[in-house]
Amino acid sequence: MLLFNLALFVLPVLSSTTPGPPPGNGTKIRTVNTKVQTIHQFEENTWAENIAIRQDGTLLVSLLSKPQLYSIDPTEYPYNVQLAHEFDGCASVLGIAEYRKDVFAVVRGNFSMEVTEWVPGTFSIWRVQFTSDGQSESSQITEIPEAGGLNGIATLNPKSGILLVADSVNGVVWRVGADTGDRVVALRDETMTPFGNSSTPIGVNGIKVKNGYVYYSNTNKQLLCRVAVDTDSGMATGPFEILATSFIADDFAVTIDGYIYAAGNAANDVKKYHVNGTWESITGGSDLIGPTSVAFGRSFEDADTLYITKKKTPGLVKIGI
Ligand SMILES: *[C@@H]1O[C@H](CO)[C@@H](O)[C@H](O)[C@H]1NC(C)=O
Ligand SMILES: *[C@@H]1O[C@H](CO)[C@@H](O)[C@H](O)[C@H]1NC(C)=O
Ligand SMILES: *[C@@H]1O[C@H](CO)[C@@H](O)[C@H](O)[C@H]1NC(C)=O
Ligand SMILES: *[C@@H]1O[C@H](CO)[C@@H](O)[C@H](O)[C@H]1NC(C)=O
Repeated sequence: MLLFNLALFVLPVLSSTTPGPPPGNGTKIRTVNTKVQTIHQFEENTWAENIAIRQDGTLLVSLLSKPQLYSIDPTEYPYNVQLAHEFDGCASVLGIAEYRKDVFAVVRGNFSMEVTEWVPGTFSIWRVQFTSDGQSESSQITEIPEAGGLNGIATLNPKSGILLVADSVNGVVWRVGADTGDRVVALRDETMTPFGNSSTPIGVNGIKVKNGYVYYSNTNKQLLCRVAVDTDSGMATGPFEILATSFIADDFAVTIDGYIYAAGNAANDVKKYHVNGTWESITGGSDLIGPTSVAFGRSFEDADTLYITKKKTPGLVKIGI
């Protein structure tokens, strides 16, 4: 059934004139088991949602279950875990993206944990700035009252402070000016929309910008996709390409050489998408249940470490890559 429905919108993509997905066609080639190390265990019923890394190597973790951001120094055990920021007037914090040194754009709003439902009309984008002494201050960039449920966020253009934000419910990507507060829908495609019958609609979810492409996952449709965009307007300059199907993914990271590591959420794995278009599932048994997002370390010591947030057995873990 799912494949049948996918076929309906795979066809126009394949018939476009620009090169399609890499030769592997998004084929899964293997499952590998890996050793998972716990960094921090949040209290029960915590949902760790997203992760970003500061330039000094500090990890920033957002919670869906509380309006909080935590900072964790991963270099010294026992790891120093601190509440880095707490918002007023909302229930959840979602995507985090750095757009200037120590300045992060953060998605906040209400996601009801009791009924696992988005609360439309509650979403906004905030600027959170950190100082070297660990202090933080925040201000609102813009509300997006038309959004159904904002989720992942990425910096499109650091120079002009242009951000892209995934609206998982409306199945679109918003362009937001961090300095101006301007907002407009920049990307809209069937590969971004959720299934209309889903009790928790989650279409476009994770979003990243790399080498002129916007990469995105669609959780309901189990897709990994990309589209070439204009780096000022965020508008598509090429076709919306499906890189992999049957690819259950939440947020993800793209490496400099084009590999994609995706948090598998309900699939309880981390998926590694190779540049040749094949992918493998990295599992970690009970230590890798419900991964929600991933990020590579940014210091020399942990550049080969993938940090992973989790929604169940709530916490923060790492694996070597
Ligand atoms: C929801 O819709 C999708 C696509 O139309 C279909 O594949 C899926 O089976 C439906 N799920 C349910 C629970 O009806
Ligand atoms: C990829 O898809 C094309 C077109 O459908 C097909 O000819 C080719 O064999 C596929 N390659 C792989 C590795 O599945
Ligand atoms: C959103 O959550 C906050 C904090 O729990 C609450 O005060 C507010 O009423 C909620 N807004 C809506 C529209 O549910
Ligand atoms: C693609 O790359 C992976 C990882 O290097 C390798 O294991 C696989 O054999 C390659 N597959 C193809 C079709 O080139």
